[in-house]
Amino acid sequence: MTRHRVLGTGEGIPWHLPRDQQHFRQQTDGKVLVLGRRTFEEMDGWFTNQLPIVLTHQSDYKVANGLRADTLPSALALAEARGAHELMVCGGGQVYESALPIATHLILTIIEATIEGKVCFPPFRDDGRWHRTHHESFEADAENTHAMTFEWWQQSAPVVTDRCDPHRHLDT
Ligand SMILES: NC(=O)c1ccc[n+]([C@@H]2O[C@H](COP(=O)([O-])OP(=O)(O)OC[C@H]3O[C@@H](n4cnc5c(N)ncnc54)[C@H](OP(=O)(O)O)[C@@H]3O)[C@@H](O)[C@H]2O)c1
Repeated sequence: MTRHRVLGTGEGIPWHLPRDQQHFRQQTDGKVLVLGRRTFEEMDGWFTNQLPIVLTHQSDYKVANGLRADTLPSALALAEARGAHELMVCGGGQVYESALPIATHLILTIIEATIEGKVCFPPFRDDGRWHRTHHESFEADAENTHAMTFEWWQQSAPVVTDRCDPHRHLDT
């Protein structure tokens, strides 16, 4: 996302940053992911070594080489049933908003660009629950047209509900 939390235009991601794509592949390699139906359809064919769980209210939605869930707790239960120790939330805006209160960790890429967009990551920096543990910055170069920073954050007190306890599912 940009510093102003823009994730996309609504039709796609308005930047091409191979360094960030490689980072995303490395971080998600071998993992179980959960994505909103719109994000999944944009990324169709991208998943080579990941198991995508697609959130949708459409009961007849078919996911080739993946799974469907109609709620976030169902997605957590599916991941746990497959022996996963964590479920990585990969957007879009709607799904990030639902998952942020129960998330334990964030891996963010902050892109140094001013871009208008309809889809945003939810606000989180000022609520005191999240703290940044480390980061790594890169200048723009011939392949990557914007400077970027990879950031790792942890939430001190993720919300636990009777239907959704992140500590049951995630390594902390
Ligand atoms: N910059 C980035 O790193 C990044 C990452 C991911 C996505 N994006 C961008 O984000 C955009 C999409 O974001 P978005 O917010 O419009 O859509 P989204 O979150 O990808 O998908 C929304 C859809 O997911 C389903 N859904 C969401 N929450 C649900 C829930 N709690 N239970 C059941 N189903 C649920 C619904 O599908 P149904 O309508 O089928 O019920 C909903 O219409 C894309 O254009 C993409 O480019 C950017």
